[in-house]
Amino acid sequence: MTDLLLLPGDGIGPEVTAQVRRVANRLANDLTIDERPFGGTSFDQLGTPLADETLTQAKAAKAVLMGAVGGPQWANAPRDKRPEAGLLGLRAGMGVFANLRPAICFQPLAGASTLKREVIEGLDLMIVRELTGGVYFGKPRGIEDLPGGGRRGVDTQVYTTAEIERIARVAFELARGRKNKVHSAEKSNVMETGLLWRQVVTDLHSREYADVELEHILADNAAMQLVKNPKQFDVMVTDNLFGDILSDEAAQLTGSLGMLPSAALGAPGTPGLYEPIHGSAPDIAGQGIANPLAAILSFEMALRWSLGRADLADKLYAAVGKALEKGARTPDLGGQLTTIEMADAVLTEL
Ligand code: NAD
Ligand code: IPM
Ligand code: MN
Repeated sequence: MTDLLLLPGDGIGPEVTAQVRRVANRLANDLTIDERPFGGTSFDQLGTPLADETLTQAKAAKAVLMGAVGGPQWANAPRDKRPEAGLLGLRAGMGVFANLRPAICFQPLAGASTLKREVIEGLDLMIVRELTGGVYFGKPRGIEDLPGGGRRGVDTQVYTTAEIERIARVAFELARGRKNKVHSAEKSNVMETGLLWRQVVTDLHSREYADVELEHILADNAAMQLVKNPKQFDVMVTDNLFGDILSDEAAQLTGSLGMLPSAALGAPGTPGLYEPIHGSAPDIAGQGIANPLAAILSFEMALRWSLGRADLADKLYAAVGKALEKGARTPDLGGQLTTIEMADAVLTEL
């Protein structure tokens, strides 16, 4: 049985996942690791971004770690053959509906963000993004020709009570082990799904989680509050699209998009999907300068949440912190290290 299935993907994906492999070999050389083509790379080799065997293997592994997918070379492929469609198919196929995106500002990086030190120092925020519903998957969708000329594009935002309740439950449970505070972000002022979201979260809260502090916040205000005073947040639960946007914003609070890992979890006992939240970074791909820490920290999350090795996760987390403390910085953090040298710095601490 595979412990960890690596899906390097496209652009900087293979560059950062290669560093995960080095770290895994050092830290836990008893782990069985497999690798499969994924995304645009899989499309080029196999004619599809997500091959059936890849999904089968993913579901049979203990954890899956994906690098990144996408790039300009596949921009004109049909929608269902695009690298991003492979990722959505993987998330849906694995049933990983709860996406945990922790935005933590490592102390040595408090000066590395574009935001003022006092705003982000000590930041520890968990974004809980719904990952298998909403406008990413709603039907109908498509672009159609209009009889009188012109075209019409349609996406559908849709949520059921069951989908909202299960993601809210994850947020409340996480909050109980943290600072016991949940912000639920939606647009109930203009969207029906937002209104339902607010009602379902409110009901669940009063039924089962009244001990947790709950605040509803409109998603646009949440975006503003994140840069104004991010430390007011502990856990933020939100839908698929808002979660995508707000987590990129939160990533920059930690110093760089290259710092933010994620864990996507489904039903208990099923494998988790771990991914850095950044993309394939076509602007720096192939240069060997991508920050591998989001990928390495995604492996840290896999050790903790799927592989039952919290002890090793703690070690790895501490090693990343020490490497940063000693000044290890890739260019996105204002430094000079290459991808490999950044991983070397972590390996040295291990
Ligand atoms: P991106 O996240 O790839 O890049 C945004 C910016 O952040 C770029 O300037 C990039 O150089 C920088 N950056 C990202 N990761 C970095 C890292 N590890 N180290 C240093 N700098 C880093 O977003 P984009 O440019 O909007 O999208 C590029 C492609 O990636 C698109 O095809 C998009 O669909 C895809 N994408 C994939 C994922 C994923 O696989 N999970 C996530 C986001 C975007
Ligand atoms: C992310 C990415 C993906 C998303 C894309 C590549 C499908 O932006 O993981 O944040 O939108 O979910
Ligand atoms: Mn994104």
